[in-house]
Amino acid sequence: MAEIIAGVAMSHVPAIGVAVDQGLTDQEYWKPLFAGFEKSRKWIAEQKPDAIIVVYNDHATAFSLELIPTFALGCAEKYDIADEGWGARPVPPVIGHPDLAWHMAQSLILDEFDMTIVNNMEVDHGLTVPLTIMYDQPEQWPCPVVPLCVNVVQYPPPTGNRCYNLGKAIRRAVESFDKDMRVIIFGTGGMSHQLQAERAGLINADFDNRFLEMIVNEPEKAAAIPHVEYLRESGSEGIEMVMWHVMRGALDEKVKEIHRHYHVPASNTAVGHLILENIK
Ligand code: DHB
Ligand code: FE
Repeated sequence: MAEIIAGVAMSHVPAIGVAVDQGLTDQEYWKPLFAGFEKSRKWIAEQKPDAIIVVYNDHATAFSLELIPTFALGCAEKYDIADEGWGARPVPPVIGHPDLAWHMAQSLILDEFDMTIVNNMEVDHGLTVPLTIMYDQPEQWPCPVVPLCVNVVQYPPPTGNRCYNLGKAIRRAVESFDKDMRVIIFGTGGMSHQLQAERAGLINADFDNRFLEMIVNEPEKAAAIPHVEYLRESGSEGIEMVMWHVMRGALDEKVKEIHRHYHVPASNTAVGHLILENIK
């Protein structure tokens, strides 16, 4: 049977991708950020997952205001890298896992989570930057990926609690897939940041660190944080953190914290990162 062995959370700041693509990671600005990912890269190389589910948000790249799925599941064989205005990032295309993804679609929809099924989609920095953080610059990504998009761009995004419960349903879906597979789930986005208007540049390290602690040890309490609190405390783009609850819901209530990293700033954003393992 397939199983979810671990969850990983991390921000997906586009400039992190640029730093790797352009060989800038040894610069003083970037060094401390990447130092905090060294352990993560070793860890995932040892884990050798058979597939990764990446929970991320599309930034009006594949979708637009014309079509806004709350939850969309990638069932394609392959995802090309989007051109977000500066040419596509020089990273390999993302290979999907249609068998697992279609099984997840069936399981989730019959479990009353009405996923939008996506058979053709380009992926943006929300998905590719987390892969780069974990795998650097490989010729091919080492394992297939199932993309799961959450709308956090246009109000109303789903609640933290809905995301947490989706994570639980994802676990049921994976555990009912009749193939021996070790799956890791990524929850991406955040932490505090606001890219626009009067409070552009907002960072709230207190809130972020409380959130990191709570999502590890009190996941239900974390999932109950209302939208207005993200907005007030973590800025307009801090709402990306609801995607971490999907990852967290797919794990045991008590987890083993393997790694935590928090760094300010990367571009306009506070970067947070967790590796959590289910206790066997
Ligand atoms: C930045 C952060 C994001 O999460 C994003 O999607 C785009 C830009 C930033 O900090 O520049
Ligand atoms: Fe983002």
